[in-house]
Amino acid sequence: MNAQLDLIADGLADQGYAVADGFLSTREVSDIRQTDEFRNHLLHFRQAGIGQQRDRQVNEAIRGDYIRWIDPAQAAAPLALYVQRLRHLIEHLNRTLYVGLKDFEIHQTVYPVGTFYKRHLDQFKKDDHRKLSVICYLNEAWHEEHGGQLRLYVHAGHRDVLPLGGRLVCFRSEVLEHEVLPATRERFSLTGWLLNQHAELKHL
Ligand code: OGA
Ligand code: MN
Repeated sequence: MNAQLDLIADGLADQGYAVADGFLSTREVSDIRQTDEFRNHLLHFRQAGIGQQRDRQVNEAIRGDYIRWIDPAQAAAPLALYVQRLRHLIEHLNRTLYVGLKDFEIHQTVYPVGTFYKRHLDQFKKDDHRKLSVICYLNEAWHEEHGGQLRLYVHAGHRDVLPLGGRLVCFRSEVLEHEVLPATRERFSLTGWLLNQHAELKHL
């Protein structure tokens, strides 16, 4: 596990992003997908907005995913395990990169078939506490022809990352523009941010 955390820290230091396969095992991914929230996501998730609080609005021409914020104190065991892994990641990055991370916020995510999230940055205009974006994918047997790539706008061009089960992607929220391409299957993930201040309670 530590080798993997080192790989993430090195990627962030050298290129501003990292892709780590097997951050969750196949079994751990399947346990998360079997939780009531994911199995009955139509009941539990709501359409994601853009902007914060009063500025929040739904706009499917920009983003079409459905989400549910995770309350770490109430999380089912398979999700609590992921939360624990994120805490280790935070400790590791604080030790190796001196980034001063204090907390995190995570939501469960589903992109229905054909939905996407246009090119954007993850920091809000009035709130720059999101330092690192961390996404872990929960899709079994995902192939290139299913689409749904995370497109990272790096250097002059871009790098496309497939949402493979267990794969973790981490990048600097304030600099790295990215987008989610439409897919021919439902696309599941855990989407989170490592913060330099304590997380607020989300209104579910
Ligand atoms: C986001 C986002 C990327 C992905 O939710 O802000 O960019 O691959 N997600 O799901
Ligand atoms: Mn994003």
